[in-house]
Parts: sequence; structure tokens; C-alpha cells
Amino acid sequence: MSTVPIVIDTIAGMREAVATERAAGRTIALTPTLGALHDGHLAHVARATELADVRVVSIFVNPTQFGASEDLDRYPRTLDADLAKLAAAGVDYVFAPSVAEMYPTGPTDTVVAAGKVGTLFEGTARPGHFDGVLTVVAKLLGIVTPDVATFGQKDAQQLFLVRRMVVDLDIPVRIEAIDTVREDDGLALSSRNRFLDPKERRAARTLSVALEAAASSADSGLDAALAAAQGALMGESLVKLDYLKVVHPRTFLPVDDDYRGPAIAIIAAQLGGTRLIDNEMIWLGN
Ligand code: PAF
Repeated sequence: MSTVPIVIDTIAGMREAVATERAAGRTIALTPTLGALHDGHLAHVARATELADVRVVSIFVNPTQFGASEDLDRYPRTLDADLAKLAAAGVDYVFAPSVAEMYPTGPTDTVVAAGKVGTLFEGTARPGHFDGVLTVVAKLLGIVTPDVATFGQKDAQQLFLVRRMVVDLDIPVRIEAIDTVREDDGLALSSRNRFLDPKERRAARTLSVALEAAASSADSGLDAALAAAQGALMGESLVKLDYLKVVHPRTFLPVDDDYRGPAIAIIAAQLGGTRLIDNEMIWLGN
């Protein structure tokens, strides 16, 4: 399937296209992205195709989710390559607004607060990040009014917070989690992987190896799972571990030592100038 997506850069234009599709009785799926698309994003489009008649992908490098010391300027902007991939995937509309279109008077005074979970893990490393994410996601959902919106399982904390936001704010949209797509050696696809030099790239696989080790030992409980993951990281000096935790899927808070049941092992590490995250569902036993 190959269509040339209609590229829209204004909010009014996007609303008009949505109104036309709705008038024709068609359902709409939204995949919000920062661009620099890879096969992980295309998996969202494939699932969106199963769930709705019309596929919209937004491409917007949202400045309000980047901290002052972060890589906003360095973040890859590859619109032409992105459009070619989305055409091959059969996407109908690409919403690619400018910063001035989304924030005509600068960052909004109204901000969606991500709450306590928004201050943990990624939120500790990137203060304010999740308030920026939730605010722009709320704006995108308000503009596109999709029936379903796709979010990657790789950004598990973001997925948790988006799900909670749509429940808390009664936003009528189904949030669909999309499985992480991985390289052959297990490294989760990420737009930031392109910044890894060859040595860092080789070392980066250790994140998924550590998560696998946690999953394999999880039957023996939390301590065993964490010890196995730590063991897998030992000796890999290029991987500077930020956090390795096991959280409850319903609260995204660390589980107690004696917790048994489904959990998510989450990891973040710095490799040179690049920060990578990953996670895996595990089952704590014993
Ligand atoms: O995960 C991302 O790509 C971004 O955080 C999102 C959801 C597009 C919001 O800018």
C-alpha cells in the first residue's frame, strides 16, 4: 500500500480534514511522534490501520518536554525521509505544525501536571518533561479528536501517564500500547540510537540483556531479579546506569520486596552523550 499523505501544518487545516473524514463516517487513529521515524513508529501505523479507517501521524518536536540542558537542538529533524516512510506505510495525513502554530504566545500557562509519578525515574532525570508531554498530547488529542491513539510500550512511564490522563480528564479516546520493536541483538529501536558510536552501540545491547536477566530470575523474587540485571551490567563500563527498578503496572511505583505478580522492570542509562531507556514486563514469584 502506498499513498502520499496529505501534509497539514495548521490546527484549522487539521480540524477541517478531521471534520471531512467524520462526515464520511470514517474513524480516526492518531500516532503522535517527534519525527525521526524508524520501524518502531511504522509498527504503530500498522496497528492503527487495523483499528481505524484513517491514519494520522503527528510530527512535532515539542520544545516544552525538553529541559534547558537537553538535546532539543540536536534532536534529529528528518521530515522528508519521514514522509517517504509514511507514504510507503499508507498514512493518510501527517500533521506537522510549527512551534509558533502550537504555541503562538509561547509555552501555555495551562499545563497538565503529571503528578508524583511524573517526578520519578525519567521525571527525576528530566524535571518537567512529563508535564510537557501530557500538555502537548492533550493538545494533539483536542485537535485531532481520534478514536484511538497509539503510544509505544518502550516509553512505559509516558504510556502510564497518558493512560491516566485520559481517564482523569475524561478524554474520549482509546489508548493503544504498541510493543517495542528491537534490533536483532535486542536493542530497542529509538530515534536516539543514531547518536551512538560503534563501541557505544555494541554496549547498548546490555540494557535489554539486563532486562532479560531480570525476567529469567523473576520467579525467585525481586532481589533475585535485580541482582541478575545488575550482574548483566557489570563490566560494561560504557553504560552509566541511571536507574534499574521494578514497578507495579497499575501504579508505576516501585514494588515492595515481597510483592508477587506482574511488574515492569525499567532501566535508563547514559552511553556517552546519549540517554537510553528500556523496560520489560516480568512476573515476580516465590
Ligand atoms: O514519545 C514521543 O514521541 C513524544 O513524547 C510524544 C508522545 C510525541 C509527545 O511529544
